Amino acid sequence: MRKHLLAASMLCLVLTNCTKDKIHVETTLDRSLTQALSQAAATNDKSHFILPESDDFLAIPQDETYNPLTKEKVELGKLLFYETGLALSPSKNAGQKTYSCASCHVPSAGFRPGRIQGIADGGIGFGLNGEKRSKLTAYREDEMDVQGVRPLSVLNVAYVENTTWSGRFGSAGVNIGTEDRWALEEELHINEAGFAALESQNIEGLEAHRMDITEEVLDGYGYRPYFDAAFSAVDTTERYSRTNAAFAISAYLRTLLANEAPFQSYLKGELNAMTEQEKRGALVFFTDAKCFHCHKEKNLGANDFYALGVKDLYQTGLAFNTSVEDQRNLGRGEYTGREVDLFKFKIPQLYNLIDAPFYFHGSSKTTLTDVVEYFNKAIPENANVPTEQIARQFQPLKLTPQQVADLTVFLETGLRDANLERYVPAQVLSGFCFPNNDVFSQLDLGCGE
Ligand code: HEC
Ligand code: HEC
Repeated sequence: MRKHLLAASMLCLVLTNCTKDKIHVETTLDRSLTQALSQAAATNDKSHFILPESDDFLAIPQDETYNPLTKEKVELGKLLFYETGLALSPSKNAGQKTYSCASCHVPSAGFRPGRIQGIADGGIGFGLNGEKRSKLTAYREDEMDVQGVRPLSVLNVAYVENTTWSGRFGSAGVNIGTEDRWALEEELHINEAGFAALESQNIEGLEAHRMDITEEVLDGYGYRPYFDAAFSAVDTTERYSRTNAAFAISAYLRTLLANEAPFQSYLKGELNAMTEQEKRGALVFFTDAKCFHCHKEKNLGANDFYALGVKDLYQTGLAFNTSVEDQRNLGRGEYTGREVDLFKFKIPQLYNLIDAPFYFHGSSKTTLTDVVEYFNKAIPENANVPTEQIARQFQPLKLTPQQVADLTVFLETGLRDANLERYVPAQVLSGFCFPNNDVFSQLDLGCGE
């Protein structure tokens, strides 16, 4: 017994990873993967892919000038994001106080809607994961709060430099040189303020999604002291504003990091955090399948735009208030007005995708196997997208069935943080049901029981 322990601790000295009583022997597969990860990393070190801890405010990207991260802002944002009591400007009375940001960014659905399209105002029902939300009969389609693209996840959004599928928000990053666009549309004026994209989008988002900060919110539900704590440096005449609500929400969103996913633990040295198959899949991702050429940032997304020729949301035949005419079908081209940008969409982050089985901007795929096969075959599916716009990297990969299976499992479980509940508040100050508060959702969510 003694001998064994001695041998084990000596082994510890030679191996890279030993915890108190567990020895993770580095296999050939681990060595290949570590090498591939370092080569794929912009910094030539696999630590490039490690997401920070959610309370490590110095390490999280933020708007240092206008909205530095603080605990108080995060705390307020964590409530406002779910607060159905902000739903004070619905297009019809039936929608009053029934929706929140989280109606379309459902935590248990990987901060996506749990269905092909997000529905806030004008929706009813929730199901288990947002999948049962549908149209409220009192609303016409054009009165609903729905968009012609699938909502992006807000998980790991701290690493998104220009938000939305078209990258329309933010004055920095790829939007340098697009200043002439900001005067053309009311919601883009905000880019002139020079805030980070997230802050800008959320200021506009509160209005676009029909939410308000009123006396009722501040004194009826009790948010005033939270604004006081978070924005004590701001004059009281400007403290309780929609802008500050958006700042608090942005601070909270920046802490939503999938830092407990198996791949993250693996990167941090826990070599048995991923299964053999997940490791093989990761190796495919970072070598043969060349996924990392595009999905290269810490969130495994990037601030770049490509056309993959996937179908648009209207082509599912199941989405509300969108059509072939929808400007959002044009991707980045809709924002820049440049022909070269037509049909190109932002490279999205890849964590917790399995939590809501709707993939690409038009929700045209419903399994990750189908997504991987789409990349493997590289045959565009949307006839509206001219061939010359399609990414030249979109070429057949000739992956074996085993590689396809391994890569799929890496996406499904290797990149899944199983504990996103830690980011959800126990309740919101109004005491209302959330993320939705219509009568069907109340039943589905077990509110008032
Ligand atoms: C009705 C559904 C809906 C509601 C409600 C909603 N969103 Fe979204 N959200 C979307 C859609 C759709 C997109 C993608 C829009 C696009 O690309 O044009 C999106 C994108 C985003 C993004 C950009 C993510 C990225 O990677 O670029 C952020 C941030 C965001 N939403 C935050 C919020 C906040 C904060 C609220 C509440 C004020 C909110 N959303 C409410 C549907 C919704
Ligand atoms: C040429 C750049 C590029 C390459 C290479 C690439 N992707 Fe993507 N990926 C994108 C873009 C752009 C999108 C969004 C396309 C859209 O919805 O219109 C996307 C979307 C996805 C999605 C859907 C995510 C969501 O939220 O809907 C998954 C999953 C994905 N990619 C995985 C992969 C895998 C796995 C590989 C390697 C086999 C890969 N990608 C290679 C650019 C790329």
